[in-house]
Amino acid sequence: MAKAKTTFFCQNCGSQFSKWQGQCTACKAWNTIVEELVQKPEKNDWKAASASTEKKRVSKPLRVSDIDTSKEVRFNTEDAEFNRVLGGGLVPGSLTLLGGEPGIGKSTLLLQIALKLPFKTLYVSGEESQKQIKMRAERIQPTTDNCYILTETKTQNIFRQIEALEPDIVVVDSIQTLHSDYIESSSGSISQIKECTTELIKFAKETATPVILIGHITKDGHIAGPKILEHMVDTVLQFEGDRNHVFRILRAHKNRFGSTNELGIYEMQGAGLREVTNPSEILISKKDGELSGNAVAATLEGMRPLMIEVQALVSTAVYGTPQRSATGFNAKRLNMILAVLEKRAGFRLGAKDVFLNITGGITVDDPAIDLAVVAAILSSNEDEALPNTYCFAAEVGLSGEIRPVQRVEQRILEAEKLGFSTIFVSKYNKISLKNTTIKIQLISKVEDLVGALV
Ligand code: TYD
Ligand code: MG
Repeated sequence: MAKAKTTFFCQNCGSQFSKWQGQCTACKAWNTIVEELVQKPEKNDWKAASASTEKKRVSKPLRVSDIDTSKEVRFNTEDAEFNRVLGGGLVPGSLTLLGGEPGIGKSTLLLQIALKLPFKTLYVSGEESQKQIKMRAERIQPTTDNCYILTETKTQNIFRQIEALEPDIVVVDSIQTLHSDYIESSSGSISQIKECTTELIKFAKETATPVILIGHITKDGHIAGPKILEHMVDTVLQFEGDRNHVFRILRAHKNRFGSTNELGIYEMQGAGLREVTNPSEILISKKDGELSGNAVAATLEGMRPLMIEVQALVSTAVYGTPQRSATGFNAKRLNMILAVLEKRAGFRLGAKDVFLNITGGITVDDPAIDLAVVAAILSSNEDEALPNTYCFAAEVGLSGEIRPVQRVEQRILEAEKLGFSTIFVSKYNKISLKNTTIKIQLISKVEDLVGALV
């Protein structure tokens, strides 16, 4: 018997080496190189494709203008949030990778979508038994007769079932559990993940069937397996959120068929995930009484305006070094804003603990939230509540200047729709809105905000 061929792979970045070494020369990680068995397959194919079909599929060069895209119909997944993040539905023959922390709801999301789909769907699970999946499906309710469950991990067997069933869409939970006979190393290893993904890509492209893969993530938040996995697939989606909160956010990190700015919001309920179509109304608590330290920011996630509540607590520091902590907001940015307030608005925050929280357990990167953070901190520091009909949308610069934000008019209209009476924006934003009932307060410096609020 011929000697089995082995290669060394870095488990962190997927680089390949001919011999073992302590440090990966590509990504500089230590102790990540592992020997894996590789065996060149005789026929690296998703099925032993007959020669005749092979011939028909030989592709020829075409002029861009001659390529026909009119027939390119996307699969509508019946889930408005999922469609939005994908850029308008699943593209035939595309490979989508969905990553996320354990227990965040990846299996729930995809099973729920599979159950709602009006197409014949095959849900392949290497993680749970058919009974377990059925129990989950019963919790989620709306069940079509088009969803087939297969519990299998060997790709060759999966393809055999696919050939028999001819599904329109295939979901695989998860890529790390798959195993191909052509490679001898264990499931979840770099070479297995690479091989199984290659087989699935080949299958997807040849049959124009969209495939959705679930991927585990490592403890630092990356999708487990080689980095090239993300290069191989067409779309990389990330399902995130705080497990102790009910909101889950679906983002696209890479999308060959659409924008990566779009965002899907779900709420985890007893009976599966519910699409949140009116996020602004849910994320701001309509309180009766006004509380100090609360301010509402008019942010924008993708194309969607999102009103978010910011809570700040400023208290006298008990220990020598004041504590600063931020949930859902960049802690470095909080420190910067505090320094600006100290320098430009004369607030002596140096001896105060400052805690900041974005409600709903979501993380916001939109710089337009800055002004609401400033307002919340000032309000808590003075122990004076802001009117709950005020909202804010502007970035704060290092010199205390209030900077304009993109698409301010869309934010103003959303605030007006939700019944806010006043919105604070930068003086430098160009606003050509007419007939608005909301008062647009233009400010240019942090000092102006202090003046306007007292
Ligand atoms: P799951 O989809 O198994 O997560 P993942 O596949 O990302 O590991 O989701 C697990 C969590 O979701 C679990 O803790 C229970 C919760 N859950 C609900 O709250 N409601 C439901 O209807 C379902 C099915 C799950
Ligand atoms: Mg799962």
